[in-house]
Amino acid sequence: MTPAITDRLRPSDVAPLLTTRWLGRHYHYCEETASTNSAASELARDGAAEGTVVVAEAQTRGRGRLGRAWVSPAYQNLYLSVILRPHIPSGLISQVSLMAGVAACEAMREWCPATIKWPNDILVAGRKLAGILAELEGEGPARFVVLGIGVNLNSGAGDLPPELRDKATSIRIETGAPVDRPRFLARILSHLEVRYDQLQHEGFGPIAEAWGAESALIGQTIRVEEPTGQVSGVVIGLDADGALRLRLESGAEHRIVAGDVTVVGGYPEINRS
Ligand code: BTN
Repeated sequence: MTPAITDRLRPSDVAPLLTTRWLGRHYHYCEETASTNSAASELARDGAAEGTVVVAEAQTRGRGRLGRAWVSPAYQNLYLSVILRPHIPSGLISQVSLMAGVAACEAMREWCPATIKWPNDILVAGRKLAGILAELEGEGPARFVVLGIGVNLNSGAGDLPPELRDKATSIRIETGAPVDRPRFLARILSHLEVRYDQLQHEGFGPIAEAWGAESALIGQTIRVEEPTGQVSGVVIGLDADGALRLRLESGAEHRIVAGDVTVVGGYPEINRS
């Protein structure tokens, strides 16, 4: 079992480590909440500033993509939501979650050799380390995105639900060393601020390029279960709306907008960088 973890993510634990200019400068801390995304959404509806962060030590109803639950035991991991008010058309909003995947992967690579699985799961050695749930709400000047990020930091193998043991992992399981959670939080916020500012000022190009490098997927043959059937092809890149571009055996191009991706021959491993 996991040894007792004594660090906490209270404002007084995190503030001295923050290097960001604007992200996380409004910081809401909860011992326990249903979902940090729900808490952040409520704050955003009440007008909370861009860059407001909600962190919880535990979630009772943590939410994942596709209506799944996100297992959120107390004091082990990171459950983080960020309020963003991006100047990006709603049809291109998936650029924000891809940007978050890039930033989260960069933070994780300071600890272990992480890669991105399309669209934005973070894996190590083929197992999931982190997930991102971006939710768009409101309209016009009241429109906002809540970017929810869950990272398995200090869960031990025995802490993972049995059905997730061959699919999920944590940084501690991968490296054998506990993660200093306040330090990890400060690092992920720093990467997020840099990449979000880049997206707003330079557009999606540099993010798509970093995504290509961090996903190690470009040039790989993948199989995708689409609602209309199975498709396989070689990954050639990302479109501006976040769709994955494939070259099919026929030579035609095909766009994947949703689905579960399997890399033929297994997910590529990368070296620590
Ligand atoms: C996924 O399915 O991969 C996305 C998981 C996102 C989980 C995080 S934990 C913090 C935030 N609050 C939630 O309820 N979900 C996100």
